[in-house]
Amino acid sequence: MSSNDLYKQYTDIIHKVVDIDYASAVLQWDQETYIPEKGAEFRAQQLSTLSGLAHDIYVAPELGTIMNELIKAKLSDRIQSRNVELSHKDYFREKKYSTDFVIEISNETSKAFHNWVKAREENNPSLFLPNLEKLVELKRREADFLGYEDHPYNALMDDYEPGAKVKEIDVLFTEVRNHLKEFIKRIAAKPAPKSDFLFFKYDKQKQWDFGIDILKQMGFDFTAGRQDISVHPFTTSFNPKDVRITTKVEENDFRSMTWSCIHEGGHALYEQGLSSEQYGLPCGEACSLGIHESQSRLWENVVGRSLNFWKANYSKLQNLFPENLSAVSLEDFYKSINAVKPSLIRIEADELTYHFHIMIRYELEKRMIEGSLKVTDVPDAWNEAYKNYLGVDVPTYRQGMLQDVHWSHGSFGYFPTYSLGSFFAVQFYNTAKKEVFDLEKNISEGNMKPLLDWLREKIHKHGRYYNPQELCEVVTGEKLNYRYFKQYAEEKYSNIYNIG
Ligand code: CO
Repeated sequence: MSSNDLYKQYTDIIHKVVDIDYASAVLQWDQETYIPEKGAEFRAQQLSTLSGLAHDIYVAPELGTIMNELIKAKLSDRIQSRNVELSHKDYFREKKYSTDFVIEISNETSKAFHNWVKAREENNPSLFLPNLEKLVELKRREADFLGYEDHPYNALMDDYEPGAKVKEIDVLFTEVRNHLKEFIKRIAAKPAPKSDFLFFKYDKQKQWDFGIDILKQMGFDFTAGRQDISVHPFTTSFNPKDVRITTKVEENDFRSMTWSCIHEGGHALYEQGLSSEQYGLPCGEACSLGIHESQSRLWENVVGRSLNFWKANYSKLQNLFPENLSAVSLEDFYKSINAVKPSLIRIEADELTYHFHIMIRYELEKRMIEGSLKVTDVPDAWNEAYKNYLGVDVPTYRQGMLQDVHWSHGSFGYFPTYSLGSFFAVQFYNTAKKEVFDLEKNISEGNMKPLLDWLREKIHKHGRYYNPQELCEVVTGEKLNYRYFKQYAEEKYSNIYNIG
């Protein structure tokens, strides 16, 4: 058989699998947005049937045989060859999961999630800790059968951020900690910007309209996607021409809708910018969670919390809410939305203290997985770390180790990608400023197209062709370097807080 025919067989199988996966994603999206109360019961069954179907097609020996032959044939097309290489790696990784293990972890995570919800409600970690202990044990087993060098946590991170290693993250986070601890101290010595006006009453419909307006300005294609409401904002994609985002609107916190719109909008632009030609194949998929997060945070923080962005949008906002904002200057508004304040809740944190929330979780996870921290000691270790790094006392477990859903899902190794994303974002943006003529002038006039075009060309279109560090090197000329975030933070916040 010619390698063309073989490649077609390979894509046919992959397409069948992803068609089912994306159909499941539609059902999941519906579950989070519009499903009527009674619909949930059979929906869970339908989703489980579809995922079993996709799994069976995927792991049948046929695909493995085809890919082995394709690798031997050495495809000349570089994208085809990379697709096969990555699918081959994914396939043999997937094959390491026994059916028993998949069932066991799925049962454990359902129980863990249920008990996490209860533990949170009752502010009682002991309702959840036995599940956490079991999940840590399962994850440890998973690391063992997946295989790793140096540290079992490497095997778990690799699922979210290919190539990420404890050794390197440790070095990076030490640098981050040393820098931010000092810098945040200097900020804390200065008076806090006034921000009460962010919490006045903001009409929900007007907020929604404003959000849609911002999304259009960013270049979100509403003929290839839509926005709806959900409890927790998220992005999901069924293909590059149908990308869904959700937001939530809070009447007494204007920040919630605006920046969740911009954040999810950033994720969505990445998904809309992936190659349709490579639909379902690795080169048509997002590079990694860290790179995905770099896109959302670039828009949310670097653009969406910049003075230039609000130069373009603040008068519009003032006109919508004159009762709250007519007496607030652009500069004061800008300062208020960038206030730095150590706090308890990760998802409400500012863009500097945020990284302590991540580093704390990373340290705890790593120690749980390596066995140097007993799960029963996690609640105390958590509170100690918050005191240590952020100087805050944790009054309830709900505001402490029970705040995030991740562990109950069995997602260990996920958190670091949030910080990596922020650092990638700034490094990418720094290059964009050099390469795009009048980038910031355009942003200050509400023209985001030059930035989006650059992101499309440099990042989005490649999918998984490069791994995250390679992509960073191709785009910026070097691997991830904290120096760029450090510079950005010092410049921006020295200005806001008047630090000499
Ligand atoms: Co995100």
